[in-house]
Amino acid sequence: MFPDRRMRRMRRRIVQPLLRETELRKTDLIAPVFVDESISAPLPIASMPGQFRHLVDGVADYCERLSDAGVRAVLLFGVPATKDGEATESYAADGVVQRAVQKIKERLPQMVVVTDVCACEYTDHGHCGIVGETADGLDLLNDPSLELMAQIAVSHAESGADIVAPSCMLDGMVRAIRQALDAAGYQDVLIMSYSSKFASALYGPFRDAADSGFSFGDRTTYQICPGNAREAVMESELDAAEGADILMVKPAGIYLDILAAVAALGLPVAAYQVSGEYAMIKAAAERGWLDERAVAIESLTAIKRAGADLIITYFAEDAARWLDEEQ
Ligand code: PBG
Ligand code: ZN
Repeated sequence: MFPDRRMRRMRRRIVQPLLRETELRKTDLIAPVFVDESISAPLPIASMPGQFRHLVDGVADYCERLSDAGVRAVLLFGVPATKDGEATESYAADGVVQRAVQKIKERLPQMVVVTDVCACEYTDHGHCGIVGETADGLDLLNDPSLELMAQIAVSHAESGADIVAPSCMLDGMVRAIRQALDAAGYQDVLIMSYSSKFASALYGPFRDAADSGFSFGDRTTYQICPGNAREAVMESELDAAEGADILMVKPAGIYLDILAAVAALGLPVAAYQVSGEYAMIKAAAERGWLDERAVAIESLTAIKRAGADLIITYFAEDAARWLDEEQ
């Protein structure tokens, strides 16, 4: 008798919904939100069609729209009016992110507010912390930058952030932030660590969006080389040991092997579908070469299938609406 097992029986249209293994949910989605304190109207981001920098005074309106679509969490990035060598605006009580968090929490107490904890939007050199001379020349200094990250995280918690998300890839960043949060009385603020973050060329559009490009060197002395899988998993293991509540793999779609390995560590895992992943789909769709909605949903489903519990994506609002339409 041939064939012994007829797989196509399981794909009869009537049984397909019963046998679907992976289903994207609206509660999986986190929307990145850019807030700029120098603009007077929302500013479109050229390399990310459909995305804008928002005003501090407009960010709650935008979050309300996301919330109406069913998006329950946002990840905030700030574009400050001034930058300097020490990123002093990054931890200012009246800084751009700090004010944005307050506005969102006042209007939408149920919205989960996650803040990106990094210095690259706030330093004049564009690197993710304090720079100085090293054996290899001018570079990001590890230990002197840890205190800065702790200060940023505490200032975000003071403003009402529910989750802080350090993205600087410094050794010891999670421990330094956990200790500082606990000492300041914020035991219940979670840490979502950008634990396995690669030195990717897919961050290009983001650096325009957040004005966070660097003026010298690159990020390869702190972010992971794209070819290194064991190193990437070890980074997540170390952050778990330092007390991270949620791990992260970034970028997402072309690092699904890493995502699966990090998911096996046991903590909740977020995957960041980054600006370049979004821009590629958008650009091909604009040319009529790809079906935007189908490719976006397929990419998000693949990220979930590989092991993501949460997905940070610029498609969050659209995906939430598309998921409604599918019901
Ligand atoms: C800053 C940061 C970056 C992203 C998130 N946080 C850029 C970088 O590391 O240069 C990238 C996000 C995206 O491309 O969508 N540390
Ligand atoms: Zn950074």
